[in-house]
Amino acid sequence: MLLITDIDSLRQFRNSCPPEARIGLVPTMGALHAGHLALAARAVQENEVSIVTIFVNPTQFGPSEDFSRYPRTLEADLAKLAPLGIDAVFAPEVASIYPEPPAEFAFQIRSLDRKLCGASRPGHMNGVVQVVSILFHLTRPTHAYFGLKDYQQCLIIRRLVRELHFPLEVVPCPIVREADGLAMSSRNVYLSPEERRQAAALSRTLREVRERLGTFSGTAEAKAFARQALAAFPLVQPDYVEILHGETLEDLDSLAPEGQPVAFIAAWLGKTRLIDNLPLY
Ligand code: PAF
Repeated sequence: MLLITDIDSLRQFRNSCPPEARIGLVPTMGALHAGHLALAARAVQENEVSIVTIFVNPTQFGPSEDFSRYPRTLEADLAKLAPLGIDAVFAPEVASIYPEPPAEFAFQIRSLDRKLCGASRPGHMNGVVQVVSILFHLTRPTHAYFGLKDYQQCLIIRRLVRELHFPLEVVPCPIVREADGLAMSSRNVYLSPEERRQAAALSRTLREVRERLGTFSGTAEAKAFARQALAAFPLVQPDYVEILHGETLEDLDSLAPEGQPVAFIAAWLGKTRLIDNLPLY
C-alpha cells in the first residue's frame, strides 16, 4: 500500500493505472472505524485499483465546530487499511489542497442543503462539495464510495456528479452499526461512557418509528413520538427530528410509501453532535 502525501506523486500514481481500469475511491477524514473499513473493503473487491483519501477538510467545519480537535490518527488508520489490499492512501496537508487560502471559488447549493445538516451547519455541505470535487479531479475514480449515515451528503454528491458530469458512479453504502444500534462515527470517541450508553437512543427511536408506522396519522405525529422517545434520555439534546422525502428532502405530511419517507435525527450529547437516519420502507 502506497502512502502518497503530495499531488505530483498522486498524479504519477494515477497516470500509472491502466487506462481502462475500474478505480474505486473512498474519501474519508480518517479516524477510521468499521464503517470506513467496510467501504474500503468493498472498493478493493469491486475495483482493479482502490484509493482511500484521508483529509480533515477545514472548509466543511464552521468557525465554532470541532476542526482542531477532530481525531487525527494516521498511523492507526494506515495499519487498519494495509491488510485490506488498498493500493494507495492519499493523505495530503491542508496547504496542498488549498494552496491559496481562502479559496477564490466556492460552491453554492441551491436547495438540497436547506434542511437537516445543511441548515444546522451553514456552509458545511459547500465545503464537502468543494473538497469532494477536488478529490474527484485528482484521483479520477470510476466509482466513489460513501456511507449512507451522511444521507444528505450522499444525495448532494450524487447530484454534483450528475450536474458537473464527473465520469463516475457514486456508490452509497449501508450504515454500519455497533451492537446496540449506534451508527459508527469517528465522533463516537468523544462520548463519555454515559453519553455513549444514551447515544443508542437515536437508532432505537428511528427503529421504533418504523415499527409503529401504521399507528401514526402522518409525519407530524411520528415526529412528535420520536421527540418524546428521545426525551427519556436527558443527555440526548435533539438538533432536528425530521421525516422527509428520500430523494428530494422535501417536507412530507403523509407517511405513504410514494413519498419514500426517511426519518432523520441529529442530536447533541454534550459537545458531540451525532446523526442517524432510517428509510421507513
Ligand atoms: O463524510 C466524510 O467523511 C467527509 O464529509 C468527506 C466526504 C470525506 C469529505 O471531506
